This record gives sequence, C-alpha cells and structure tokens, in this order.
Amino acid sequence: MGMRALVADKVAPGGIAIRNLPEPEPARSEALVQVHAISLNRGEVWRLRAAEDGWRPGWDLAGVVKVPAPSGPPAGSRVVGVLGGAAWAERVAVPGSWLAELPAGVSFAQAAALPVAGLTALRILRLGPAILGRRVLVTGAAGGVGRFAVQLAKLGGAEVTAIVGSPERAAGLRELGAADVVTDLDQLQGDFDLVLESSGGESLARLATMVHPEGTLVMFGNSSLAPTTFDIRDVYLGGAVRLQGFMLFHGFAADPPGRDLAYLAGQVAAGRLDPQVAAVLPWEEMTDAVQRVADRSVPGKLVLTLDGGVPSRTQP
Ligand SMILES: NC(=O)c1ccc[n+]([C@@H]2O[C@H](COP(=O)([O-])OP(=O)(O)OC[C@H]3O[C@@H](n4cnc5c(N)ncnc54)[C@H](OP(=O)(O)O)[C@@H]3O)[C@@H](O)[C@H]2O)c1
Repeated sequence: MGMRALVADKVAPGGIAIRNLPEPEPARSEALVQVHAISLNRGEVWRLRAAEDGWRPGWDLAGVVKVPAPSGPPAGSRVVGVLGGAAWAERVAVPGSWLAELPAGVSFAQAAALPVAGLTALRILRLGPAILGRRVLVTGAAGGVGRFAVQLAKLGGAEVTAIVGSPERAAGLRELGAADVVTDLDQLQGDFDLVLESSGGESLARLATMVHPEGTLVMFGNSSLAPTTFDIRDVYLGGAVRLQGFMLFHGFAADPPGRDLAYLAGQVAAGRLDPQVAAVLPWEEMTDAVQRVADRSVPGKLVLTLDGGVPSRTQP
C-alpha cells in the first residue's frame, strides 16, 4: 500500500508534483492522521524554490485521526495539526501534542488555515508587554499572519494599527479590528508598545525607532528579502526598547502547539476569530497557489483539499 504526497520536483511546473510514496510509520508518541485539507505559507514558497528534488514540504494540516497517539485526540476525531515538514500528504504521522480536536462547526478548510499563521500571530503577541489598552502595530497586515495578528491583538484589548502595501490590500482590515490602516510609514503617529515586524529592510529600520521606551519590536519575517541598516543609537536612545527575534518551531519543544491550536479553533467556533480563507483549491492546483502567494495577491490564507470533498475553487 502507498499514499500520495506533494513533493519538490525540479522539472514539474512550479517545482512541485504529486507522487506515490510509502505509508508513514508513526513513532510511539505519534498519531496517524488522514489529511483532508492543508494550507500554504510564504515561508514554504521560498523553501520550495531552493529545494532538492524529492524534498517534502508542508506545515499545516487538518484531518481525521486513524490511529491515536497515547496522549492526544482519540481515533475518529477531527483534528488540526502542524508538522515541521512533509504535511502535504494523504496520511501523516503527527506528535499527539501537536494536534488539537476540532469543535463542531469548524470546517477542515478553516482549521487548515490556523497552524503556522495563527500560532505565529498568537505567540508573537505574547512577546511584548501586556497589550490591554496598549498600541500594537502589525506589518504585512493583509497576509496570513497579519490577519490573525490584527484580530488577536484586538481580542486582547489593544488599539491596532495595520500596515499594508497598497490601498486595495486594506480591504476588510477595519472589520477585523484595526483602528487605523496605513500604506505609508510616514502616516504613523506616536510610538507603539508592540511592533510585529515581518517586512524587513527599510520597514524594520524605520519601525525600530517608533517603539515605546518600554516596548518591544518582534522580528519574525523578512518578506522584502532586503537587508536592514540602521544606527543603533536611534533605538537605544529611545529608552529600554527590546528587539526580539521569533522562530515558531523553536518554541514547540518547550510549549507544544496542541494547546494553542485548541485555543485558536475554539475562537473560530465561538465566532471571535475568522481564519480569512481567501480561497479553497484542490491540491492538484498547488502550483497555482504557490504563484498566488508569491504574487502577494492573497488576502489571507489559501487552503487546498485532498479528498475532493470541497468543490474546486469555492469560497469557504
Ligand atoms: N519566524 C517565524 O516563525 C514565521 C512564521 C510565519 C511566518 N513568518 C514570516 O512572516 C511573514 C508573513 O508570512 P505570511 O505567511 O503571513 O505571508 P503572506 O500571507 O504572504 O503575507 C505577507 C505580507 O507581507 C507584506 N509584504 C511587505 N513587503 C513585502 C514584499 N516585499 N514582498 C512580499 N510581501 C510583502 C505583504 O503585504 P501587502 O501585500 O499588503 O504589501 C503581504 O500581505 C513572512 O515573511 C514569513 O516568512 C515567520
């Protein structure tokens, strides 16, 4: 018996193709999950470009537990989960503590959008001072992480400012909780208690000087792929400003993601968090999905389904 998986393929269009592979063999602490939906993140688009033939991408998944882990959701339960790679397959082995059971009413498509983008937004929001009543600035706000960060910061009681690349990309962000949406850093006024920075380059240099004297700037991405140059005096003369790095998978050993995935799914079920699924495609169309993320044209998340259960190109 075997299964199908998406694999880096140098000669295929877009550098990715579905291939037949052996079934996964779960370790003692892992569950076997039948995957129904996956999603795509910007980081995966970059890694795919540099990948060796045969490399297996994929972080985000949602599906049904076929064989449970000793601790974790039971057999037959609908789950959301995350892996450090190779999640874009019909069946995957996932550590029990990296899974969360889905509440009724949360679809596989909604769930698949949650892991990397939602967990990143949640965990970077925890890196600064308490945000209740404080000012939070979100760069790349129109993207996957950005749309979760705007909503979660608002849920946490912050006054949220969103930065987007163009007026069209501002669509929907006020409805998600942004008090202000700007396209130009010159439009920003005052300083911010927490800056969530993923554009890099000039954006990082400028925003490092706009942090409250006791505030934090979290560096978690470099979407511009540009280097950053700034005079460090412009930062430390501003007070006890903290520049903090973040890498999602680094934190999983100390704090496995299952608990936070359960929180995110619960917020979706309660109607307090919208995963902002921009489109749902069949996984045969991954090449198209990769191009759309690279083109910066996705307002939120792209989800792909494996089982034909969701009609092609539907809205969620
Ligand atoms: N450190 C970690 O663990 C971690 C985890 C997840 C994500 N990330 C990083 O966080 C960033 C956001 O990820 P995502 O999955 O949310 O990506 P995404 O959905 O593609 O969103 C990225 C956003 O960045 C903005 N952006 C600004 N300058 C850009 C440029 N030069 N090229 C492309 N986009 C640019 C775009 O906003 P406009 O279209 O409005 O301009 C876009 O909406 C990425 O850099 C990613 O690598 C890091």
